[in-house]
Amino acid sequence: MPFAQRTRFCGELRLADAGQTVSLNGWVHRVRDLGGLLFIDMRDRTGIVQLLLDPGADLPELRSETCLSVTGLVRERSEATKNPKMATGEVDVKVTSVEVLGQARTLPFPVSDEDVMETVNEELRVKHRYLDLRRPSMYRRLAIRSSIVRRIRAYLDERGFLEVETPVITRSTPEGARDYLVAYRLEPGKWYALPQSPQQYKQLLMVAGIERYYQIAKCFRDESQRADRQPEFTQLDLEMSFVTQEDVLNLAEGLTIEVINSTIAEFGLDKEPVSWFPRVIYSDAVDRYGSDKPDLRFGLELFDLSGALKATEFGVFRAALGSGGRVRGVRYPGGAHLSRREVGELEEFCKGWGAKGMATLAFEPAGAGEHAQTTAAGLGVRGSIAKFLTPPEIEAVVAESKAEVGDLLCLIADSYEAGNAVLFRLRLEIGQRCGLRDPRKLAFCWVLDFPLLERDAESGGWSPTHHPFTSPKDEDLPLLETDPGRVRADCYDMVCNGSELASGSIRIHRTEIQARVFTLLGIDEKTQRERFGHMLDAFGYGAPPHGGLAPGIDRLAMLLSDTENIREVIAFPKMGNGYDPMMDAPSPIDEGQWKELGLRLAP
Ligand code: AMO
Repeated sequence: MPFAQRTRFCGELRLADAGQTVSLNGWVHRVRDLGGLLFIDMRDRTGIVQLLLDPGADLPELRSETCLSVTGLVRERSEATKNPKMATGEVDVKVTSVEVLGQARTLPFPVSDEDVMETVNEELRVKHRYLDLRRPSMYRRLAIRSSIVRRIRAYLDERGFLEVETPVITRSTPEGARDYLVAYRLEPGKWYALPQSPQQYKQLLMVAGIERYYQIAKCFRDESQRADRQPEFTQLDLEMSFVTQEDVLNLAEGLTIEVINSTIAEFGLDKEPVSWFPRVIYSDAVDRYGSDKPDLRFGLELFDLSGALKATEFGVFRAALGSGGRVRGVRYPGGAHLSRREVGELEEFCKGWGAKGMATLAFEPAGAGEHAQTTAAGLGVRGSIAKFLTPPEIEAVVAESKAEVGDLLCLIADSYEAGNAVLFRLRLEIGQRCGLRDPRKLAFCWVLDFPLLERDAESGGWSPTHHPFTSPKDEDLPLLETDPGRVRADCYDMVCNGSELASGSIRIHRTEIQARVFTLLGIDEKTQRERFGHMLDAFGYGAPPHGGLAPGIDRLAMLLSDTENIREVIAFPKMGNGYDPMMDAPSPIDEGQWKELGLRLAP
């Protein structure tokens, strides 16, 4: 028998609808049985409205999350029962008929209670994702994500980009992770790889004359997971021909600003609109923030005391400086008031990120306690190393760090790299404690001029900082064989609030340069032909100069959904170990499939 189809949505009923008979389709959000009266909050994807049922009637069982169709009369609530917190709070629906469309069993968690849901085990939520996604907060995240993608398409379509799909079963496209492999039934021993990104295809589309390409592309990477990483994620993949770095930056910046600001407006998000993106050179970013992903919502730039303290007698600093290390630090405004125990905890935090220790200097008004020294400006100096530095050294430290009254200077003596690993996290921690990482702010920037190559920790050889198709800067080409570590790339990252949102570059489009870079990466000629012969060949047929980038859609959605957990913006995410508890994937395959694929487990 057909059910009564909705004439209206739950969330749209208002006082002006009073007196109308409506049919609603949706779910039982919450039931309140007040003896003589049965109230049900009914929910559909637009919102919630209160139903009033007569328990005397012959009612079916109406448990939470039962799917139903009701028909009834919209009425104005009495003044005392109006609920200003609900959009539909001025009305209720006096139900005349109810039909259960889908009965619900006992729930694994209370879907309607957002507070309790915050504490529910995440794997349980993902196992029953079809229920978890019924929550209005989850629907909203998916809606924000959908809006982002819709606006991206509109922006790029208007500017002449062609959306092109590229294969998902293909061969390896290296982006620094392991591949997911798919066995090839017809020739056992041969494998497809799922793409880590469509990088090679999009470049080949440029050789093919497409000129302006984009794709909302699924990418697959078998790598260690983090809060902002999934084994399967989505990129806006984009590529343009006949462009310079400046053209790509302008296009991507305009697109991002438009998408972010219009999504903020559509959803009434509590965020400040964004305007232009400042630019930071990679080496400056690392000097000033200890990282190529700076959080620019606040200052507290790192300072370097290596010059100021070059002649220090203080043993720990002397030893570090003597072995080519640095003494660098970060200011903690108000940190002079921390107790000894609290400073100890901060030092433990640093040790957790590899520091050997953390030295401190605290600056207070003179007379506010016992001080090892007083500065020329009359500040009393305390802290773990106050008595080991000479007065001129203290003055030099104040000048370099711009220390002010109330500050605690946190100092790390170590190699440049080890110092960065600690100081960038310490700066974020201090920013957090000082309330400077304002969730309303989206502080975007471009980080430019990355080095082309970095030393691989395991092999000691060179590996690409981004991927092997990134173009060296023309002016650095002569260094390619003589001093590869100094070669800079036409490469850029878009960073927001300390997280990498997009990465891209101008690409190599000449066979000879691509082969030189492969060789530097330790890929011999034979392997170059085997793995990348198609690219080297394609560049020999009139390849245009080209470049592009790829913002992570999941990360954009995270920024606008105020979550630091990427799974919250993905309908069906994988858990930490790549496991999907709902589908129970990955799963064993049956005997016949092993045989068919010519596979067997090694004993
Ligand atoms: P890259 O590897 O830097 O560049 O990736 C680009 C952007 O994709 C997102 N991202 C991820 N998101 C979620 N989970 C992951 N595991 C994950 N890995 C990456 C990030 C990142 O900034 N082909 C190049 C792009 C190019 O050069 O055009 C590439 O894939 O937001």
